[in-house]
Amino acid sequence: MSAAAGDPGLVVPRSVAVIMDGNGRWAKQAGLERIRGHEKGIEAVRTTVTECAQLGVQALVLYAFSEENWQRPQREIDLLFKLLKRFLAEELPTLMQHRVRLVHSGRRERLAPDVLDLLDRTIAATAGNAGMTLSLAISYGGRQEIVDAVRALAADVQRGAMAPAAIDEAAIHARLYHPELPDPDLLIRTAGERRISNFLLWQVSYAEIHVAEVCWPEFRAEHLHAAFRDYGRRVRKFGKVT
Ligand code: FPP
Repeated sequence: MSAAAGDPGLVVPRSVAVIMDGNGRWAKQAGLERIRGHEKGIEAVRTTVTECAQLGVQALVLYAFSEENWQRPQREIDLLFKLLKRFLAEELPTLMQHRVRLVHSGRRERLAPDVLDLLDRTIAATAGNAGMTLSLAISYGGRQEIVDAVRALAADVQRGAMAPAAIDEAAIHARLYHPELPDPDLLIRTAGERRISNFLLWQVSYAEIHVAEVCWPEFRAEHLHAAFRDYGRRVRKFGKVT
């Protein structure tokens, strides 16, 4: 982690994860349809990605669509994927400009072919970028990620590539969707909620949690800076004595 130039209290975590919550509430408060909240939320996604990249965050994970979100009305699901496709198409120049590498965390099975195609093309186009890694968690669940890792381990055991006694934390970690990403130092959740909601269950073991009271569509650089200042005040002990 590093202190951002000109603001010694603002400590930039190596890895940040965000639960973008409150789109629906923001829309309701504004007398709009829920889906307008998601549309407005794209602005906060843009700001957060560029600001994190500029401040030197190495990895940013955004919870864009959970496994549980498949239970939402089909109209809302369709709009969310429309927004995702628009974001991928429109933001590629910005991702390139800020040297952001895109990856996907989550299951591919239920994603539509056109979504997968655009996602894969953007991932390929940004693969050589050496700046921040942006992981979009789409069709993602923390429990499902652990299930998928356990399935991979079981397959390795079955074909004789691994002994059950050799299974340790590193073996599970190596089979997560993106084992190369550092565990989040800071988990930000908006809209005042204090829940993990099946996000990065393995990886957040020692993450500091910052709850922002604003709804996601209102989240701006000043709120990100406030989260980083809050993070700068934390004493991280990792179970040890300081
Ligand atoms: C939670 O708000 C937000 C989501 C389920 C989706 C987040 C998606 C976006 C911000 C737009 C698309 C993302 C990208 C990366 C392009 P909610 O609907 O649960 O809000 P509520 O709890 O107030 O109803």
